[in-house]
Amino acid sequence: MSTSNIPLPTTPESILPLVIRTMSRTPDPRLRELMASLTSHLHAFILETEVTEAEFERAVKFLIDIGQATGEKTNEVILAADLLGVSSLVALLNNPANHSHGEAHAQAEAASHAALLGPFWRANAPICQAGDNIARGNTQGIPLEVSGVVYDKQGRPLADATVDVWHASPVGMYENQDDTQENMNLRGRFKTDAKGAYFFKTVRPAGYPVPTNGPCGDLLRAQVRHPNRPAHLHFMVSTPGHKVLITQVFADGDENLTSDPVFGVTAALVGNFEVRMVDGKQQAFLTHDFHLIEGEMTFPHPPIP
Ligand code: BEZ
Ligand code: FE
Repeated sequence: MSTSNIPLPTTPESILPLVIRTMSRTPDPRLRELMASLTSHLHAFILETEVTEAEFERAVKFLIDIGQATGEKTNEVILAADLLGVSSLVALLNNPANHSHGEAHAQAEAASHAALLGPFWRANAPICQAGDNIARGNTQGIPLEVSGVVYDKQGRPLADATVDVWHASPVGMYENQDDTQENMNLRGRFKTDAKGAYFFKTVRPAGYPVPTNGPCGDLLRAQVRHPNRPAHLHFMVSTPGHKVLITQVFADGDENLTSDPVFGVTAALVGNFEVRMVDGKQQAFLTHDFHLIEGEMTFPHPPIP
């Protein structure tokens, strides 16, 4: 297409139509739609807030900084999306349990809420047997037993589904952030039995701050926001023919449930962590079921290699 008949911009507002027309040649229709919408919102945002040159320069520096700060131990790009609520938005939008319009509604009744993946999932966690303890080495803490059933959308138990769990230690560190923990501590993959049931032992996780030593930490401080996530367990539940459920279960009573810095908590994801005295010692129990929907079993890429 020739651009010779397109009027040159004369005002800030008249740049956008030219950009949209130029991008309209994009053969991939979804890329065309996404880029047209994103560009329109960006132009509207810049016009509305009257972004200055210094502010634009600062924004570019932030993007460069989060890219450069991303590496083997941290992913500041994902963290930035998390802190803006974008990761939670994508998780909720794409899992029909969380909204009630469109074709997804038929499956919506039974499906579990999804939650953001977070940066600390690792592929290939140890394969465990039902009842194994994932607190390896010398991990101290209140013992926790976790059990539940994995169901399909008709409420039938799913045998041989994989329940991949990972969580922070009782001092609030994931093993890949903390050299004092054994490799793969507090991680494991369990299979459901013939009745769809899973069961594992661990220690109660603690809440922890999202990383604050990078550019995202600067943003949090500038916004006077605290970095502390409520205590939680991460789950990735999968079986062929079903959408991989990535979710989290939060400790009820945690003081940060309503101020999660990454907006991952929904009411359905607050678990019932019961604490009882067993042989004079505290012992915690959590029962939590998962409901999968049909779909492709596609796994994410680990955020940290
Ligand atoms: C996490 O749940 O592991 C997490 C999520 C977002 C940012 C940092 C950590
Ligand atoms: Fe986490």
